[in-house]
Amino acid sequence: MKFLFSSIGQKVQIALSGILLAIFLLFHLFNNFALFAGKDTFNAMVKFLESIKPIIRVMEFGLLGILLVHTINAFRITLYNKSATGSKYKYNAQGETSLINSRTMAISGTIVLLFLIIHLGFVWLTYQTTDSHDYYQILLQNKIGFLGHTPTAVFYIISIMAIGMHLRHGFQSALKTFGISEKSKFGILYKFAILFWAIIPFGFLIIVIAIQAGIIS
Ligand code: HEM
Repeated sequence: MKFLFSSIGQKVQIALSGILLAIFLLFHLFNNFALFAGKDTFNAMVKFLESIKPIIRVMEFGLLGILLVHTINAFRITLYNKSATGSKYKYNAQGETSLINSRTMAISGTIVLLFLIIHLGFVWLTYQTTDSHDYYQILLQNKIGFLGHTPTAVFYIISIMAIGMHLRHGFQSALKTFGISEKSKFGILYKFAILFWAIIPFGFLIIVIAIQAGIIS
């Protein structure tokens, strides 16, 4: 228990919860790629998820718990780093880099959180409350908060790029937390992380651009 709340314990909690959230993103991208298969396939996919709602609800609560563990610990570490470095004249070059890194993570993390609140507030909430079964059309409508709306699409593009940045630094930091260096025998994991910080965000970008370009329409 003491370990969980130690500085390293908090870092382990951030790393593990971050990896779980990244795995969710892989599944989420996979689901959303059904948009390319057309309206009927996408609507059938969402309808299927509706039909197993109790299971989905448990997963959503799990996801929310993981997100809270990640955010609360990240917030505490950021505050700790700030107070530990104290006056800007005290820290060395190494401290400076980690401070910049934790500051970048705090900024990109805040953008991701803001994105998530807006994404869930419009898309997820509408899906929960609508009587329509045309989930495809809801997502593609030209209305604020949805992807047919160009300013919203621009906001998604900026946020997805922030997610990529957050995941890039996040994976590097998580691997260091687990004591894995780039030159060790598990160093290949640094390359594998590209799937999460580049390929997955790129997949989401393609969806947004395809909707705006009328490829998904
Ligand atoms: C092109 C980009 C994206 C599209 C088209 C999209 C689409 C959707 C849709 C349609 C839902 C509702 C699913 C349902 O209730 O059945 C949803 C929920 C959700 N999205 Fe996204 N999403 C995108 C990007 C993201 C990103 C980048 C994140 C994470 C940072 C994210 C996180 C979530 C979460 C946590 C939920 C609620 C969990 C769930 O019910 O599946 N989404 N999204």
